[in-house]
Amino acid sequence: MSSDVKNGRVETCKDSEAVAQHVADFLTEKALAKTDGPFVIALSGGSTPKRLYEILADSKHAARFPWDRVQLFFGDERFVPVDDESNNYRMTNLALLSHVDVPPANVHRMPTDGDPADAARRYERELKTVYGADALEPGRPLFDVVLLGLGENGHTASLFPDTDVLKETEAWVGTCVPHDAPHTRLTLTYKAIASSRYVLFLVAGASKAEVVKLVRAGDEKQPASHITTEGELVWMLDEKAAGHGG
Ligand code: 6PG
Repeated sequence: MSSDVKNGRVETCKDSEAVAQHVADFLTEKALAKTDGPFVIALSGGSTPKRLYEILADSKHAARFPWDRVQLFFGDERFVPVDDESNNYRMTNLALLSHVDVPPANVHRMPTDGDPADAARRYERELKTVYGADALEPGRPLFDVVLLGLGENGHTASLFPDTDVLKETEAWVGTCVPHDAPHTRLTLTYKAIASSRYVLFLVAGASKAEVVKLVRAGDEKQPASHITTEGELVWMLDEKAAGHGG
């Protein structure tokens, strides 16, 4: 199967806490079910993912999750030092990685040293090593799950409006300098995200209801509207982001 933002399934939870709980259960079940290779996740920054990571680190989930079989990548990163408060790896480490038994070699942080374009190439190389090939093969997805958020300006990962990375069709990782947000970024490209079994959009709050509606209608101006997957796309929304009772 393949899907996109328009035909993706919608799962609505009461609030952002319920979204995070639901996705923690989803990831745990899918990771336990995959026994024929590593379970590869692209992690996201953002507020709902942070809560998700805290839940995965709680004793109920952490004890069941097959940490030794997981490979953790990042969907995007601000090009700032790892101790900067806006660094996604830092947040993920504090919320999750420092509390669970994941082998350090299975955690692939986006580099934020040297030249951004070179760092993007280095990260792509790391993805290719774990994937075991230099070209993506249809039917053999790079990621089991890609976690994505959605910004009010329609960005997802660090695919920001009116930036060159939106036109990238070959590279798996690119750089982005947003016009409307701080920091140069590294980001997975549309092509890399599409090589996935599941793409999950985690979106919560009334301030996101309008952009969720636009993206789900396929509004081409929103970068998130161009996300596709060879697997299944699922909108994990709270009631407010879904436009109910908001
Ligand atoms: C990041 C994310 C970014 C985020 C959206 C939504 O690093 O912050 O990758 O794409 O998901 O900006 O963020 P919230 O869920 O916090 O609103």
